Amino acid sequence: MFKKIKRIVNELRANQKKMLYAQEQLYASNKLLHLLPRPYFIPETGWSMTPRAIVHCLNLIHIRKAKTIIEFGSGATTLYIAQTLKNLGDDFIFYSVESDLTWKNAMEAQLDALGLSDSVTILYCPLKDVSKEWAYKEQHLWYDTAILKSEIGDTLFDFVLVDGPFGGSTPYARYSAYPFLTDNSHNGTIWFLDDTSRPMEREIIQTWKTESNLNLSLYKRYGILASESKFDASPYAFE
Ligand SMILES: C[S@@+](CC[C@H](N)C(=O)[O-])C[C@H]1O[C@@H](n2cnc3c(N)ncnc32)[C@H](O)[C@@H]1O
Repeated sequence: MFKKIKRIVNELRANQKKMLYAQEQLYASNKLLHLLPRPYFIPETGWSMTPRAIVHCLNLIHIRKAKTIIEFGSGATTLYIAQTLKNLGDDFIFYSVESDLTWKNAMEAQLDALGLSDSVTILYCPLKDVSKEWAYKEQHLWYDTAILKSEIGDTLFDFVLVDGPFGGSTPYARYSAYPFLTDNSHNGTIWFLDDTSRPMEREIIQTWKTESNLNLSLYKRYGILASESKFDASPYAFE
């Protein structure tokens, strides 16, 4: 009898947690809806970052005043970040690195429809064999580093969002962003890695932490590496 009650209580607690998580996502989704200057449908799929993760990125861009941004893996994030930077109105640089040409063209059409073409440069960088210098364990592919380097030059990035390449392209597909961009980063650079609920991405961010000595904050599906800040940028949480 006691065991049965305990099991029911645990199930109720787990269900309540799931409901709170869903409410947090709805709250974040509503915030994103109000970011755009006019109603516009942004496709979001199982490949997109969650609304809460996107709001967390936008909070960081606002609160930590990130003006030089690079993301790996275009999608809904590209549109929301471009709109945020445009709304802020300051000078900024935003690159979005994309390995799929069809996806890049589709993204550019959406940016155009929203009047955001000048707010981001999508860099088409197909996946290629990655040099050992930037690879981890069995990883053998990453974005074309020659194209990437020639485009970004010596830009120092304030915010690096890693949501590509697609996790199934090669083991530890997202590892190279940190070693490759070390010379394009500074003490205050924020590194955001999505999908750290998966074992490989979890290992990647733990390895980056060891290599960088930055503070690691892990959330349900993503992780952030950054230096100390007295300002918390986590989205509103329902307790
Ligand atoms: C995880 S997705 C990037 C998602 C993006 N950051 C967002 O939040 O919307 C990584 C790569 O998968 C590809 N991709 C994006 N959406 C896709 C979809 N719905 N189906 C198949 N591939 C997709 C693109 O090449 C993209 O660069």
